[in-house]
Amino acid sequence: MSEQDTIESVRIKFRTDSKHVENDPEKYESLKIKYLGRKGLIADLFSNIPNKSIEERPKYGKDLNKLKNEIASFFGNNKMRSIENRADTLDSSLPGPKFKIGNEHPLQKTLDEIKNIFKNIGFSIAYGPEIDDDFHNFSALNFPDEHPARDMQDTFFIEKDIVLRTHTSNVQVHLMEEKEPPLRYIVPGRVYRNESISFKSYCLFHQIEGLYVDKNVSFADHKAILEFFVKQMFGSSTKMRFRPSFFPFTEPSAEVDIWSEKRSQWLEILGSGMVDPEVFKSVNIDENIWSGFAFGLGVERICMLKYGIDDIRLLYQGDIRFLEQFK
Ligand code: DAH
Repeated sequence: MSEQDTIESVRIKFRTDSKHVENDPEKYESLKIKYLGRKGLIADLFSNIPNKSIEERPKYGKDLNKLKNEIASFFGNNKMRSIENRADTLDSSLPGPKFKIGNEHPLQKTLDEIKNIFKNIGFSIAYGPEIDDDFHNFSALNFPDEHPARDMQDTFFIEKDIVLRTHTSNVQVHLMEEKEPPLRYIVPGRVYRNESISFKSYCLFHQIEGLYVDKNVSFADHKAILEFFVKQMFGSSTKMRFRPSFFPFTEPSAEVDIWSEKRSQWLEILGSGMVDPEVFKSVNIDENIWSGFAFGLGVERICMLKYGIDDIRLLYQGDIRFLEQFK
């Protein structure tokens, strides 16, 4: 049998084979593999080229390419034919299926709103590690060794001195270590606490830390910035108050409450205060030159107040019926 016959015999075989496949996708696929596959009949014919004499090769190659193209175009056209067949049952004038478009998660919305308010008054955004050492999460922030926040009850320990951060305040320390004042940053991020899960607390949540360090920063500056934030976030007629408080890393410290007409009560939204000189000392910033204030707000808390959500767990369940309400 000459090789020329083999090209011709494959052509004839294909004509017979291809008559039986048109409506059966499985047969169609195996036919394609039989002829065009990596070890298929066409590949076999190509592997014969080295056995050809130099004179035979050009014609053999040309004929073989022609056959290959015939077979390939059968599969190309056949695909089109099957779409044509479907066109009988397809009414292309009907409107297409509706795609469900998602919407931003209420937490994301709240986060973006808070970020924008502070960006507009010159704060930059910074991020820091969620897994951190005791120094950045506690010691540098002036938490005494026996402080209850270090207790196993609240803190997730990874190793003895490595924790899942319990607040974004750890990033205050990183920022002051790494950059020269003046500093004006907000730091959004996740924090973790080993608390029992209920309508008002979850094992992880989000905070936004604020840090403002410069020369001659006063308590009045701190009040003005936070008042500006509250009025932007909740409306200019919002009633608010600064209430004296305590945090190891601020002195004096204050919490900010806003008045809820709905519940007829004050609700706490953030903690804040003037950076404690002890904190400056632990990051080698001269507390005689620099002063500053810091604040930390709970994103879930603000989100829940703003959108009237009464159970924090709803924010983490991904239930579309809940989320759709925030379109
Ligand atoms: N880190 C505090 C917490 O998680 C919140 C806080 C209070 C942050 C006062 C501050 C601050 O920066 O000045 O409860």
